[in-house]
Amino acid sequence: MAVHYEEPTRLFTLETRGSVYQMKVDAFGFLLHLYYGKRTGENMEYLLTYYDRGFSGNPYDVDRDRTYSMDALPQEYPVWGNGDFRSPCLETQMKDGSFGSDLRYQGYEIEEGKYKLPGLPAVYGEKDEAQTLKIYMTDDKSGLKVTLYYGVMPEYDVITRAVELKNQGQEAIWLGKVQSACLDFLQGDYEWISFYGRHAMERTMQRVPVVHGSQVIGSRRGASSHQYNPFMILTAPDTTETNGECYGLSFVYSGSFKAEVAKDQYNQVRVSMGLQEERFCFELKPGQTFFAPEVVLAYSAEGLGALSRQYHKLYRYHLCRGKYKTIPRPVLVNNWEATYFDFTGDKIYEIGKHARELGIEMLVLDDGWFGKRDTDYSGLGDWEVNEKKVGGPLKSLVDRINGLGLKFGLWVEPEMVSEDSDLYRTHPDWAFAIPGRKPIRSRSQLVLDFSRPEVVDHIYRQISLILDNANIEYMKWDMNRSIADVYSATTAAKNQGEVLYRYMLGLYDFLERLHVNYPDLLLEGCCGGGGRFDAGMLYYSPQIWGSDNTDAIDRISIQYGTSFGYPVSSVGSHVSATPNHQNGRITSLQTRGVVAMAGSFGYELDLCKLTEEEKEVIKLQIKDYHKYWDLIHNGDYYRLTDVTKRRDLAAWQFVSEDKKKTLINLVMLETHGNPVTSYIKAAGLAPEKKYREEKSGRTYTGAALMYGGLPVPQAQGEYLSYQFYLVEV
Ligand code: DGJ
Repeated sequence: MAVHYEEPTRLFTLETRGSVYQMKVDAFGFLLHLYYGKRTGENMEYLLTYYDRGFSGNPYDVDRDRTYSMDALPQEYPVWGNGDFRSPCLETQMKDGSFGSDLRYQGYEIEEGKYKLPGLPAVYGEKDEAQTLKIYMTDDKSGLKVTLYYGVMPEYDVITRAVELKNQGQEAIWLGKVQSACLDFLQGDYEWISFYGRHAMERTMQRVPVVHGSQVIGSRRGASSHQYNPFMILTAPDTTETNGECYGLSFVYSGSFKAEVAKDQYNQVRVSMGLQEERFCFELKPGQTFFAPEVVLAYSAEGLGALSRQYHKLYRYHLCRGKYKTIPRPVLVNNWEATYFDFTGDKIYEIGKHARELGIEMLVLDDGWFGKRDTDYSGLGDWEVNEKKVGGPLKSLVDRINGLGLKFGLWVEPEMVSEDSDLYRTHPDWAFAIPGRKPIRSRSQLVLDFSRPEVVDHIYRQISLILDNANIEYMKWDMNRSIADVYSATTAAKNQGEVLYRYMLGLYDFLERLHVNYPDLLLEGCCGGGGRFDAGMLYYSPQIWGSDNTDAIDRISIQYGTSFGYPVSSVGSHVSATPNHQNGRITSLQTRGVVAMAGSFGYELDLCKLTEEEKEVIKLQIKDYHKYWDLIHNGDYYRLTDVTKRRDLAAWQFVSEDKKKTLINLVMLETHGNPVTSYIKAAGLAPEKKYREEKSGRTYTGAALMYGGLPVPQAQGEYLSYQFYLVEV
């Protein structure tokens, strides 16, 4: 049993392998959070203290007791309006204009298996893997019923949270803010890790102390964004990769979000995560229900590395779905950086011929194959093949590529429309625009209003026609701008504050239909690279293009940041040409391969231009990738260096679950005359086991590799890289 309820204390205890989570219903029906952390075997209520504190009000129920204040007590689901002046999870307004709610406990239910959320992505788990706790709270005045969902997965060491809001009253209730989860900490100094970035430089790790006041990340862009990832970690100040306490919060949602950490007047810390509240306003009519997306909480007492591995495993096996969840994904070549828009069907076929020779398994035709699309000024929305350019129906090109023994994949950007397109000329009101204003253009395109089912249906029909008429086994789903001018011309969402949330429901509906109707299709998410790299998308696409930046050295930092919250298998990663197209850096083909192998592997360069020597390197890389695939995708991932600190080299390692195999990867970041010898210490091995390194034939104990390390070879050149593959003897 992972979920326990105890009378008469009204104590809820959720247990996972390495953590315990406790909350209790107090004498007045308030739900107080007690504790989340290492297992204690104790009712943690004794941690609560009660003092008369100035300017911290008291609920009416407590009569003359001034020591009871919601402003000082830890809350399970804080609301605006009950005397807690910290950042709330829920803000509501009623028809009489009043703000706020007063939630009191009504009851609970425990179910076997993990709950599902209608229309939204969520972690899944069977009866023997998960338990669900639902706690019911109501606000008497408005009739609002709030159900707090907890999904407990003991073996994966995670607890998921989500919220259902139902209007059981007679009048509309307006939701102004709905967060999905919050954690109140009574004590402790903390640091906060978040992942910021920009287009082509996503998920840079940042670690700062939690100070008084509030620190916020989020997105107002309609997508989770390149700028801030919807994932964060709270750590003790001395927490490292291998030691110390830390807590993760990961949002299973791909739209605008807000995540906050705040230290209050009594040095208590509150972290919360949920939908972006700015411009959000959802009208909940009598009888209607609203679901706030899921947040996945994880706790580790053994440092950041262990926390990441908890997320990796969970997301690999209980979030990602589809045929390619656990089987090797085809090594692909994508033509984007090879040709951009300038290709013909014959050129693609030529690339395919070289791909076959090298051992590549799939060819992906990127942007430019449809409508009038030779630049990014036109064509989006017209999902019909440009037969002149492709040299006939798409099927004939697909068949030719299949004839080479390669699978075929296709790029699409279904959420967008170009003003210069037949779709826009026919349905200008399908694109977001504020009446009476000119829309904001970005990459010269507009965004389709996916909050409208008829728009989603139309695009779905077009895309499914393509899928039905040719043997397309992979699809890259791109999205190349942020959403501005949010205004839906339909009556379905009269209240414009609902549009972005409804947009996400429309998007998820589309993706779910693809999942159900094309179960063998491998979907790769993309948003100008990693602008929608989140747990929500992973429910539909087991891999996401990590970044438009394909430079191996920048990718080390991007992949490092990504690895904190997402499995390696989820990161689309390609070897591209040198000098790199994004930053002009020159790196060896070997190094580009080593870095790209820490992901779902592929190539993105003109294979027709390779030298014989390069072809041999690539053939070997693909062989190696197949050999290492299981280790890379299903093994445990260890960050061996902190790329934000260590300047000389970056290293990471994969270890098989049975600890019999390991692959240590390292890339030199600096080069000097008369260099000092660097050493790299392995992790995660069995100390007593002996491992043979494949190239040298030398054997080492796991202990030697972990505590003494390996001397890094010295050779001349920039950005040299090494892979040490060791197998138990
Ligand atoms: C942005 C993507 O991230 C690129 O890989 C490529 O698909 C282009 N869009 C095509 O327009």
